Amino acid sequence: MPHPALPSEADIEELVRRFYERARRDARIGPVFEAAIDDWEAHIARLTDFWCSVILAARRFKGNPFGAHRPLPLEPPMFAVWLGLWRETTASLFEPEVAALFDARAERMAESLAAGLFFRGQETPKLAGVLVGESS
Ligand code: HEM
Repeated sequence: MPHPALPSEADIEELVRRFYERARRDARIGPVFEAAIDDWEAHIARLTDFWCSVILAARRFKGNPFGAHRPLPLEPPMFAVWLGLWRETTASLFEPEVAALFDARAERMAESLAAGLFFRGQETPKLAGVLVGESS
């Protein structure tokens, strides 16, 4: 079985840059980023570290994603938007096997963020619908 090569650090930075180009332009989630982020180069560097840690096991991201999102004016449907833009970006840059790896990690992370932010103590089955943008 051929094994797709792991993306390089430069590929990951490119992914992060392309994703935020889309996210900042998006009318539904762009304003949240614009209001919260002053230094885009620092944010891109931080998120590049995060994704290198996730995908390349680089162990260099030391952050607190849950704490970072807690003060933001987020609503559950925004996570479906975020994931849709993420999937478009990964599909535009990588082979399907590699895109699927990034997508699966993003989905898992979005699910755990949403579970902590919105659905504490509730049943989780709802989450699957929220995250793919279904109405209930
Ligand atoms: C609508 C959905 C989302 C919005 C609007 C959003 C927005 C933001 C903003 C504004 C920050 C910067 C916070 C700050 O510097 O104070 C941030 C940080 C971050 N976000 Fe998101 N985010 C979303 C979903 C996600 C998802 C799904 C992931 C992961 C797959 C993610 C990963 C991160 C990480 C790793 C950080 C850095 C945390 C840290 O510095 O400790 N975000 N996000």
